[in-house]
Amino acid sequence: MVCLLIACGEKEQNKYLPDQAFNEEWLFKKAELEAQNFDFDDHNWDAVTLPHDWAIAGPFDRQHNARTGGLPVTGMGWYRKHFDVPADMNNKRISIEFDGAMNDAYVWVNGQLVGNRPFGYIGFEFDITDHIRFGKENVIAVRLNPKDLSSRWYPGAGLYRNVRIKYNETTHIAQWGTYITTPEISDEQAHIKIETKINGSKATEAQLRTTIIDAQDQTIATQTQAITTAIIDTELSVKSPNRWQPDAPYLYTLVSEVLDDDQVIDRYESPFGIRTIEVTVNDGLLVNGERLQLNGVCMHHDLGPLGAAVNYRATERQVEILQNMGVNAIRTSHNPPSPELLDICDKKGVVVIVEAFDEWQMGKVENGYNLLFDEWHERDLRDMIKRDRNHPSVVMWSIGNEILEQSQKDGWKLTKHLSDICHDEDPSRKTTIGFNYYPAPYKNQLAFQVDVVGLNYWPLQLKELREQYPDMILYGSETSSQTSSRGIYHLPIQADVVKETGQVSSYDGTVGPPWAYPPDVEFEQQELNPHSLGEFMWTGFDYLGEPTPYGGRDNSTNGYWNDDWPSHSSYFAPIDLTGLPKDRYYLYQSQWTETPMVHVLPHWNWEGKEGEEIPIYAYTNAQEVELFVNGKSMGKKVKGKDKTPIPAEFHFFEKGTYMSPYRLSWSVPYEPGTLEVVAYKDGKEVARKSVNTAGTAAQIQLSPDRQEITADGKDLSFITVSVRDEEGNLVPDASHMIHFEVDGAGKIAAVGNGDPRCLLSFKGDKMEAFSGQMMLIVQSQNGKNGEIKIKASAEGLPMAESTIQSF
Ligand code: GAL
Repeated sequence: MVCLLIACGEKEQNKYLPDQAFNEEWLFKKAELEAQNFDFDDHNWDAVTLPHDWAIAGPFDRQHNARTGGLPVTGMGWYRKHFDVPADMNNKRISIEFDGAMNDAYVWVNGQLVGNRPFGYIGFEFDITDHIRFGKENVIAVRLNPKDLSSRWYPGAGLYRNVRIKYNETTHIAQWGTYITTPEISDEQAHIKIETKINGSKATEAQLRTTIIDAQDQTIATQTQAITTAIIDTELSVKSPNRWQPDAPYLYTLVSEVLDDDQVIDRYESPFGIRTIEVTVNDGLLVNGERLQLNGVCMHHDLGPLGAAVNYRATERQVEILQNMGVNAIRTSHNPPSPELLDICDKKGVVVIVEAFDEWQMGKVENGYNLLFDEWHERDLRDMIKRDRNHPSVVMWSIGNEILEQSQKDGWKLTKHLSDICHDEDPSRKTTIGFNYYPAPYKNQLAFQVDVVGLNYWPLQLKELREQYPDMILYGSETSSQTSSRGIYHLPIQADVVKETGQVSSYDGTVGPPWAYPPDVEFEQQELNPHSLGEFMWTGFDYLGEPTPYGGRDNSTNGYWNDDWPSHSSYFAPIDLTGLPKDRYYLYQSQWTETPMVHVLPHWNWEGKEGEEIPIYAYTNAQEVELFVNGKSMGKKVKGKDKTPIPAEFHFFEKGTYMSPYRLSWSVPYEPGTLEVVAYKDGKEVARKSVNTAGTAAQIQLSPDRQEITADGKDLSFITVSVRDEEGNLVPDASHMIHFEVDGAGKIAAVGNGDPRCLLSFKGDKMEAFSGQMMLIVQSQNGKNGEIKIKASAEGLPMAESTIQSF
């Protein structure tokens, strides 16, 4: 939050109360109950702090649907909170705001129903003033009821996003009450238009003061107006504006204040950016007139072992890991994201497509959004846009993913209706959609109702469509859907689902659903079709649920995905569930980044295969790579010229015929020692990486991503835990059970290892190494400064210790 010094006269005082976090001291019970009444006996309920995901602790069980993570999501759950409201608040308007509740929230205050909001991903607010007992204890009760077969992925369950209580004067700025646009921007000046929505305007003589402050907290422009209507239009200008750009995401803050007799009675901050976006037919997406080739990923909302419960640092870390891979764009598949994600993308310069729905009227799962669509879609879509339209990172609104209406003759009507709603709420941004049928949505005219057409898994149709419809703006809204398991290599290389291991090889032959392509094909098609805005690979991080290629993909509609239990989380991403990179991470990095890099795979522990040929792959963004085995050169390969056959069976290619210009490969007889790759540009070495044959496991290494965290009860340190030999080499097949003890100013938030088949609880104090590694997530405690001491022990290994600071 920005600190603001108000240049005020003597008389001016602050009377407003900032919105207050309402996350602490809730009580929770998962049971079929009627617990709405004030005096319901909740003394034996569990004490919880929000955001809270009741399903993430498990246990995993095959009786739950593997498609939604094999976790106990479904069923009724209740939250209650006792709170006092002082007597002198009786002239305030009191409301409660939820950033989302999973799902079908019913909210009571002191036994009286104040509202219902079924869609789990949408934010909402209820005015509860009329139900409050001033000067007394109050009870808020929330009932949630996620149903089985209501999602195609892990939705999480509970009050999984932040909750706030607001004490406002009668006249105050409405929820999401500012709408900021920048209709004219030049190097000299930006013209800023603001619409401010005021609640309770009629009763007062109040004024609205609108101020723009820059990133150094300096006031740039300000204006004060009488509040005469519920919507106030303001125009301000910023001289020599700093642009928001992906590589320099400059943010201004709009401060809106309601003044009553020179007292500030309400205050609302809206960070915003000054930038232009254009979506062009030939030159892709232009941000401030410059092309931004979208190197994007689709992301589900869960945070791996932390579940769906929102955490700022965990979200920020995801974005940082993605940016390091070269990602500059995120599609929030297939639902409105947490507000935190958009704040982070604003700050880090990542552009976002915000998506509303995975279903319209036609359902993909029995209890999906189709049941809510008729009654709620307009409200949900408008609210999504109202909440998110000031974010400079947001570049398009997606009205749907693979909606089944694509095949319907009349499907265009709904498409137009939804696209019109978006334009009505925000004429400054384009609408889009992700189609996975071809050519139905073009024949049925759906494609002509949105501004920009997203193709899910039709890379070869980018050219064909362009030829047929030269004015159509296209991009890959979902691409690749390749799968793999971190650190697992199956020899010989093949594109097969290996039922015995339940894992997928990181040689990255194309294993996935029938529509999957290797990343290489997607890269090539983007290069061959420069009119395309870019691609959004499925997915950036592995997520809970949808364990393709294991589990019921052939009868995936409506059913359970437990055929290949215990597989219960995704294999799709180049980054595992805990944030550890798979080899494919470096394939994307070699295509999407410029800082010189080189990567080599597989590991170099092939005992018993001495003398046998082992395939070696290298990924680089340089020109050439030379491979050395125990210091001896195995020859140089030239990127783009020396191609690698990718074993694959996918749309429009014959099995095994795709020759990738994006990977370099050798085949060398195995001898233990060192595998080393050296990358060259213009004949000069620019990067080098090696992997050694590891000896027996001798130590546990603890590597925190941050040594210092904030003592706010939310901040996290992600500690990569690895099993190493005497020399410090990763033991690539180590599977030790490691026990953790965390003492002092912190606690264990979660543990995980990225194995989609692991059934150990994320909320326990032990985890098994998967391919030699795992993640321990440590959380600070509110107000507790000092050292957090971490101990890790495993049978046969010396105890490892690490200390991080919390303050
Ligand atoms: C797409 C779908 C995604 C995911 C993906 C897996 O068709 O939009 O949600 O299921 O397939 O390949």
